[in-house]
Amino acid sequence: MFPKGTPEYVDSGQRYVERIIRALYYFKQCALIGPSGTGKTHITYLVAELTGLPVWEVNCGLQTSSYDLIGRFIGLGKENWVDGQVTSWLRYGGLLYLDEANMMKQDVATRLNPVLDTRGHLVLNEKDNEIVVRHPYAYLIISMNPFSAEFAGTKPLNAAFRRRMSVWINFDYESVGERISQKEVELLIKRAQIDEDTAYKIIRVGAEMRRQYKAGDLPYGPSIGDLIHWAVLIKDGSDPISAAEETIVALTSDSVEVQADVRRLIESIF
Ligand SMILES: Nc1ncnc2c1ncn2[C@@H]1O[C@H](COP(=O)(O)OP(=O)(O)OP(=O)(O)O)[C@@H](O)[C@H]1O
Ligand SMILES: [Mg+2]
Repeated sequence: MFPKGTPEYVDSGQRYVERIIRALYYFKQCALIGPSGTGKTHITYLVAELTGLPVWEVNCGLQTSSYDLIGRFIGLGKENWVDGQVTSWLRYGGLLYLDEANMMKQDVATRLNPVLDTRGHLVLNEKDNEIVVRHPYAYLIISMNPFSAEFAGTKPLNAAFRRRMSVWINFDYESVGERISQKEVELLIKRAQIDEDTAYKIIRVGAEMRRQYKAGDLPYGPSIGDLIHWAVLIKDGSDPISAAEETIVALTSDSVEVQADVRRLIESIF
């Protein structure tokens, strides 16, 4: 897939796009790490669009198997082999995006080791030991949430895999706690067409929720995408409090107590 029309990516001077492209240029692979909603997937698509690379994407999970990555037989007979995403990527080149890479089981991740080091090839043991050599324009981005209790299923990435990622880029929310990013306020105004005062208050709520989330006091911190949804309903005519009910209050948790905390915060700022 060749991404098109990826929305703009805002940062306040971290130059994420340049750093990712530099890592790919020198090392062919890099890792993006940061909490949910900080734009790792978004920026990967943007990098693919800017560099004109097709994206091969695997959303890793506990169930991700080597069949998904490497390939499988779909019937009897050697002609019935279909390549997995990784194998196709090696053959044709492009940008492989392994989303939530630390959700993968270790034995599955280990199959990638020879691909990612100087050997640069994959041996298809399943298929008469065919050797698939890494295409010269085969780039890799992996993304993950930092290993912690609240990201159920994440594991520390195994050392062999870690070592093969030459560059690690840390992502964080633009606005957190007392730090309010004007860029984020502007993005909200632009995307939802709301007034500056409302936009500023929404970002303040978001920033405080993110602070509490990072401190372990809330189960989720809203992304700018989530805050845009809230703003769109306000723009459509809802008052801020009821618009929040249908968006970030409900999004944060099903728990009545947590929802009450979020509601209290919103009411104090609006
Ligand atoms: N810096 C940014 N500029 C513009 N939009 C952003 C930015 N960061 C996040 N977003 C928006 O916030 C939403 C969440 O971003 P995205 O899905 O890329 O996060 P993620 O880091 O991949 O999260 P997860 O770890 O849950 O997969 C998207 O709608 C994305 O467009
Ligand atoms: Mg993502």
